[in-house]
Amino acid sequence: MVSGAGSGIGAAAAEALAARGHALALVGRRLETLAATLARSGARGLAIAADVRDGEALRAAAARIERELGAVTVVVPAAGIARVAPLLDLGAEGLRDSLETNLLGVANLVAAHLPDMVRRGRGWIVPIHSVASRRVFPGWSAYCASKWGLLGWVETLREELQGTGVRLCALTPGATESPLWDGVPGQWNRQAMIPAAEVARALIWALETGDGVDVVEIRMQPPGGNL
Ligand SMILES: NC(=O)c1ccc[n+]([C@@H]2O[C@H](COP(=O)([O-])OP(=O)(O)OC[C@H]3O[C@@H](n4cnc5c(N)ncnc54)[C@H](OP(=O)(O)O)[C@@H]3O)[C@@H](O)[C@H]2O)c1
Repeated sequence: MVSGAGSGIGAAAAEALAARGHALALVGRRLETLAATLARSGARGLAIAADVRDGEALRAAAARIERELGAVTVVVPAAGIARVAPLLDLGAEGLRDSLETNLLGVANLVAAHLPDMVRRGRGWIVPIHSVASRRVFPGWSAYCASKWGLLGWVETLREELQGTGVRLCALTPGATESPLWDGVPGQWNRQAMIPAAEVARALIWALETGDGVDVVEIRMQPPGGNL
């Protein structure tokens, strides 16, 4: 299950999982981009238009996935937004949107799948943090608040998952080339950013580690440092 699979890191993750033989369940708001990812991947699967802010829609999607594809083994909550502007310009609405998508959206997706994973005693959850989970940047208040919050939520979840058999590896990329940057004001050297396929490669590496180790988090940055 990959949210935000219509573009960027989510699409790359979906394609990498498909190359490893996984069936795909893809969620995002635009069905056509999800369908394009599914077609490119060549995998069996479902493209489901749903908003991660809508927990009920995600629970309905989870039931459909179990029915049509079987047990979900890997959940990659990659749906996210970056609203970048001085914080007084962003206002409450900009902040709310970011928290509801980047923080609550992850919680909604995990809540839709975790009970089944815990019941089966296995599975992976691979949330996407950011360099903005531990640092701040002017103009990125809403994004930083959502990602710092997500870090706290995920680390609490890690404690609660102990002994359940469900594993959790956070991916923490710095600037990664994706359509997320189309809407970010400023000049960015997108060619210097991490290719999304490299983040997907880290995901696959984590999933293929043995039971004798827990890869807690993988931190990545563009060569030469964060932009
Ligand atoms: N790019 C970077 O530099 C970078 C670095 C570190 C971490 N990240 C994180 O990586 C994740 C993926 O970002 P990306 O760079 O791949 O961006 P992206 O290409 O813009 O992908 C984000 C995806 O999320 C979906 N989405 C947005 N809001 C949604 C909602 N409410 N419900 C369902 N789907 C929604 C979008 O599709 P629809 O519009 O069709 O819904 C889009 O396909 C995000 O969490 C981001 O914060 C990115």
